[in-house]
Amino acid sequence: MKTYFITGTDTDVGKTYAACALLAAARERGLSTAALKPVASGCARTADGLRNDDALRLLAQTTAGQSYAQVNPVALEPAIAPHIAAQQADVELSLGRLLPAVQDLQKLPAEFAVVEGAGGWLTPLNERESLAELAAAARLPVILVVGMRLGCLNHALLTAAHVRGYRLPLAGWIANCLSAELPYLDENLDYLREHLGAPLLGVLPYGPGASPEQACRHLDIEPLLSGTDAV
Ligand SMILES: Nc1ncnc2c1ncn2[C@@H]1O[C@H](COP(=O)(O)OP(=O)(O)OP(=O)(O)O)[C@@H](O)[C@H]1O
Ligand SMILES: [Mg+2]
Repeated sequence: MKTYFITGTDTDVGKTYAACALLAAARERGLSTAALKPVASGCARTADGLRNDDALRLLAQTTAGQSYAQVNPVALEPAIAPHIAAQQADVELSLGRLLPAVQDLQKLPAEFAVVEGAGGWLTPLNERESLAELAAAARLPVILVVGMRLGCLNHALLTAAHVRGYRLPLAGWIANCLSAELPYLDENLDYLREHLGAPLLGVLPYGPGASPEQACRHLDIEPLLSGTDAV
């Protein structure tokens, strides 16, 4: 199974939007899909338990018949940093708890899977561990979603350097346009194309209300399917 860790230059930059588009692109190519949002803060109380919008959006793009709990094993109610939400709820949040969820994901009958982080690359799990270490422990190649706005060059380059510091491949990056008017978008894209050293999988235009099926038309996942870096 090709499994990718989806990180972003920040929180709210379109990781879920891009991850859903990647899953839709894979499905359109006839691949079976699965997803994992190992930890989600910002969950709603429902009759079925805590539910997170990211996890539900990802689940809707999968074909492997996963349960909600398989997609989102750690669901936390307040929309705050996960390690703080976990402390408040007295829930264990650790590499030891989350790594088995990645391993279970990879046993599913699916050909293409995504694991969405939370926030940015170094979001803490607890006092000692971060989500980056989950990607590293599972040896997952990383896809970086760059929210195109002022400041994104620095965040993108720092994240890419840190990913490589873990000796993880940066399998690709996605430019996500967070607003309709982005001054010097082409110049920023050119800079990142030259300096990120990974394939650009697509430029997602600003498209409020666009479905994953619509967004995925702007992605080319061929470099992922032909590459050898995925586990
Ligand atoms: N290209 C786009 N066009 C229009 N709306 C977008 C686009 N990308 C993201 N959005 C919207 O912006 C919001 C944030 O996107 P998303 O939830 O994918 O971010 P995220 O990085 O996954 O956030 P989090 O850190 O909370 O997981 C969502 O409402 C999403 O629908
Ligand atoms: Mg998200």
